[in-house]
Amino acid sequence: MKQLRLSLLGFGTVGQWLVEALHRQQAWLEQEIGLVVTINSVATAHHGFIYRGDGLDIPTLLDLVATRQPLTNHSKVTHWTNVVEGLQSTGGDVLAEATGANLRNGEPGLSYIRAALALGMHVVTSSKGPIALEGLELLSLARAHGVQLRMESTVMSGTPVLSTIREGMAGTRIRAIRGVLNGTVNYILSAMAMGFDYAEGLAEAQAQGYAEADPTDDVEGYDTVSKTLILAMVAFGRALTLQQVVRRGITSLTREQMQEALDEGKRIKHVASLRLLSTDGVEVSRGTANSGVVPTLLEARIEPIALPLSDPLARIDGLLNAITIQTDTPQEVSVIGPGAGRFQAGQGMLADLIAIAKSR
Ligand SMILES: NC(=O)c1ccc[n+]([C@@H]2O[C@H](COP(=O)([O-])OP(=O)(O)OC[C@H]3O[C@@H](n4cnc5c(N)ncnc54)[C@H](OP(=O)(O)O)[C@@H]3O)[C@@H](O)[C@H]2O)c1
Repeated sequence: MKQLRLSLLGFGTVGQWLVEALHRQQAWLEQEIGLVVTINSVATAHHGFIYRGDGLDIPTLLDLVATRQPLTNHSKVTHWTNVVEGLQSTGGDVLAEATGANLRNGEPGLSYIRAALALGMHVVTSSKGPIALEGLELLSLARAHGVQLRMESTVMSGTPVLSTIREGMAGTRIRAIRGVLNGTVNYILSAMAMGFDYAEGLAEAQAQGYAEADPTDDVEGYDTVSKTLILAMVAFGRALTLQQVVRRGITSLTREQMQEALDEGKRIKHVASLRLLSTDGVEVSRGTANSGVVPTLLEARIEPIALPLSDPLARIDGLLNAITIQTDTPQEVSVIGPGAGRFQAGQGMLADLIAIAKSR
């Protein structure tokens, strides 16, 4: 039986789902994977970092958080107010990082991930910020310490896109990727395709709890920028900056533009695209992508585009996300699935954890 000592930083929506799933699936993990996971430490912003050497009790943890009690009420725990100090003093096999991290500096996730990798811990994360900003540096830090850094739930949440690219499509040469990567925006555009204007579509998304009171991150495309930067790193090994992504949001789209597209048999979608171009701006042709023979640029764009209905990205509605990957062999692969939600994000982390456990 493989033992895996887990440290969980961030015990909100995603962290709690992951813990519940580990508890619920304990017998399955033991029987099918030969894996016993103990959660040795948990941290939140308000409660700091708690640790127990023989493992924390999951029902107790969930009860404490549900009843808004301090996590230090768990029996026999050691407590640190400084999360990094707690982590460095206690370690573990894997860090599951599910704090909120921003796109300005990637914190607090970035410092936590760096600290864990430097300790020789594997890392699974659901935070887009650190990976979008410093993904290549973090991957090279992971390599230097002989550990893995996995981030499945950062793009399309638990729908397996990054593992499809990294593992399922290993050995193919990716030339281009296009995706509809934000469920809130797709929900609004789907409402607009049914005749609502932008303000009505947004109000409906907010009423359903799919859009924030301040929807800027989604509707102006910043959330999609993070995912595009992560895809650039995973699929093309390139570290693009925020400024290198051409970005247009959906706020100025009109009912008339939506109707015009419908009349032409098209649907307007908010499309993120990554495309290899030769240095003179020509799209890299089949057989030469990533070959090293043709020097290439990676173009990154996020914009509303009218797509014909024959395009898989045109046919997804509501909260669904989709991605289309163009390669040499096979030529085009599409993945469609939910792109948000506590189940999906936690599932992405669980799948990453299992992948790490299997490879140890
Ligand atoms: N929810 C989704 O559907 C989804 C999908 C994909 C990816 N994600 C990503 O997953 C991450 C977590 O999302 P979530 O929905 O679980 O967020 P959440 O419900 O807001 O929970 C965040 C957790 O992180 C803790 N935290 C915040 N700052 C911290 C710090 N400096 N040190 C330690 N802990 C800290 C919070 O502590 P307090 O409770 O004390 O404030 C809370 O426990 C985010 O990066 C999010 O973008 C979420």
